[in-house]
Amino acid sequence: MSKITKDIPHNEYDKQKVYMDRMKERNEAHYSISGNRKNYMILTYGCQMNEHDSERMAGMLNDIGYEVTHDMNTADLIIFNTCLIRENAELKVYGKLGELKHLKKNNPELIIAVCGCMPQKEEVKEYITKKYRHVDLVFGTHNYYKLPEMLDNLLQTSKRIIDVWEDGGDPIEGMPSERKYSFKAFINIMKGCNNFCSYCIVPYTRGREKSRLPEDILSEVIKLAKQGCKEITLLGQNVNSYGKSLENKISFAQLLYMINEVEGIERIRFMTSHPKDLSDELIDAMKNCDKVVEHLHLPFQSGSSKILKRMNRKYTKEQYLELVKKLKTAIPNIALTTDIIVGFPGETEEDFEDTLDVVKKVRFDSAFTFLYSVRKGTPAAEMKDQIPNDVKHKRFDRLLEIMNPISNEINKNMIGQTHEILVEGISKNDESMLSGRTKTFKLVHFKAPKELIGSLVNVKITKAKTWFLEGEMVNRD
Ligand code: 5AD
Ligand code: SF4
Repeated sequence: MSKITKDIPHNEYDKQKVYMDRMKERNEAHYSISGNRKNYMILTYGCQMNEHDSERMAGMLNDIGYEVTHDMNTADLIIFNTCLIRENAELKVYGKLGELKHLKKNNPELIIAVCGCMPQKEEVKEYITKKYRHVDLVFGTHNYYKLPEMLDNLLQTSKRIIDVWEDGGDPIEGMPSERKYSFKAFINIMKGCNNFCSYCIVPYTRGREKSRLPEDILSEVIKLAKQGCKEITLLGQNVNSYGKSLENKISFAQLLYMINEVEGIERIRFMTSHPKDLSDELIDAMKNCDKVVEHLHLPFQSGSSKILKRMNRKYTKEQYLELVKKLKTAIPNIALTTDIIVGFPGETEEDFEDTLDVVKKVRFDSAFTFLYSVRKGTPAAEMKDQIPNDVKHKRFDRLLEIMNPISNEINKNMIGQTHEILVEGISKNDESMLSGRTKTFKLVHFKAPKELIGSLVNVKITKAKTWFLEGEMVNRD
């Protein structure tokens, strides 16, 4: 059975020091004998929260003498940080795990770990441990900070470790992190979710909502700013309810005002926002804080009030549209993005038309569109009126036919405008170009010297496609 561990103090990570020292000694000994570092590879599936957790695991592994590799064949440790949100995310991991059987056969020393959301579901954990005997380590979203201890135990005993907790305590502080970029960073401000949208598995895999202390968040932001970080993205399943679980209550808007004062930080992003908790106070904060970008990701999921009720979203189509009106009035150039689920149980043609209607009325800059995926253990999975796959697919295509031209038109309207871009790296489209994002989260490709990666530049938009823009740099900041 899973452990229920509710009272983990936030500084629990300190206890890992003894295992980190032991692992480091072991890895240094290996290095001095072989001349090679032990290599690790982390495969991350799913959301930014998983990306963030992977950065923490990479930070710990670097600290104990491992080196990253991007080639599975040379890895000594492979970690799958998994996602359970839709079936295809789950199937991908099973496929990869199957492929690894032969690698383990050739290299019995190889350590294979599965963590993240999949093992948090009891039957998935059972399935993985029974079907994939070559997996050595299985742990979950609440105890990944114990990775050094688990590795140390595994290497000492050679016995596989299956350790998944049903819930955690306070968010853990003090873990190292291997960040992909020096100029932008994700900051987790809370964990878990209390909303129980009827289709969603997250509340079952990430546990109840727990906010980090504002002083811990602030000191992380200040530290990052001192290291040259310009853009931060505050992460949480529902950032709008930040602070509710704290003894000294504080709102998300108040947190934004505090972070807005940090010198060196130029842009503040956040995700995800639940429409039911988007307060006037927060809209004011977005308007008043100069560093908070003019972009909001505001999933509406369905345009039908009937479906929204069945989804347990706690707002209606009209309330969502009213909220958008308020946002556009307060912040006229705001870019809105969203998540939409197509084919939720009971969705009629009329309900789907309501979804199209919201898309047309709001004119989102872009949308993540999903086919409803049955997640065992959620209330929606038990609903009788599931929608046949072909109907789902047809509606999905119709949605894109409406959505994509809107994105394209909005982008075309940007031609001729000059936007501030945070340069993120070499363009994936064309290696002679760089790419970066506007405050409104638009991807822009343009020609500029590589030295500008990590800085803010002004770019005049010259070309627009549905998914990206092209431009010419006009000056440096
Ligand atoms: N099926 C399809 N999409 C889902 N999402 C969450 N659960 C499911 C599901 N069972 C989508 C929602 C959410 C996004 C992160 O994933 O749109 O906002
Ligand atoms: Fe899932 Fe709803 Fe929580 Fe988002 S708010 S993580 S969709 S339960």
